[in-house]
Amino acid sequence: MPEIVIALDLPSGAEALRLLDRVPEATWVKVGPILMTREGPAFIRELVGRQLQVFLDLKWHDIPNTVAGAVEAARELAVVMATVHTLGGEKMLSAAVSAGGFGLALVGVTVLTSHDAAGYGAAVGRAPVDLAAEVERQAEIAIRAGLRGLVCSSGEAGRIRRRLGPDPWIVVPGIRRSVDSAGDQTRIATPEQAVREGATHLVVGRPVLNASDPAAVFREFRAAAA
Ligand code: C5P
Repeated sequence: MPEIVIALDLPSGAEALRLLDRVPEATWVKVGPILMTREGPAFIRELVGRQLQVFLDLKWHDIPNTVAGAVEAARELAVVMATVHTLGGEKMLSAAVSAGGFGLALVGVTVLTSHDAAGYGAAVGRAPVDLAAEVERQAEIAIRAGLRGLVCSSGEAGRIRRRLGPDPWIVVPGIRRSVDSAGDQTRIATPEQAVREGATHLVVGRPVLNASDPAAVFREFRAAAA
């Protein structure tokens, strides 16, 4: 069954823990660079101590030795999923996979959703790039290097699923019910759509974080994804 991952995009660990107190059925949480920089590993230990599966979304992209060291540190913290940039290349990805061992699933971030074709082309010194093809190209490199899966929008998930088969995890943010506002997300999907496209993990932030009854909204997402 697809997992609902609550993105803990809150200003402090205390606020994140208060939110989790109100959603006792939560099983997966995502911690990004803001909360991690503010609260550090003690916060991760607190989440793990609450029996939560922690997805550490720090999008590592560095020389292989450094990324492998970061992955090892995450594994020591009992994090179960973490992100690396696939543009780091096959050597970096393989080093990360070796450091992660069996306990830590690494998923690849391909083209950031903030890029458009011209901006991405400019960043890599090329003419405007066909982003869908570029995402697929990088996804293949990621899986070849041993990554467990990819992070992508729901729109890209179907193509990746068809290209890579049933095995890889596909982690999809930008999930909204029809009653939710998109916020700053431009490529959103309902839980039903994302699962149909092959998503295995649905990342949900503001619809749960800003709800007056976050537990009820969490349950709605879970039921819709089932
Ligand atoms: O609040 P919302 O549901 O839009 O949160 C989505 C989460 O997924 C945020 O933590 C955001 O940083 C993350 N994310 C995203 N788009 C990506 C990669 C990650 O929205 N392409």
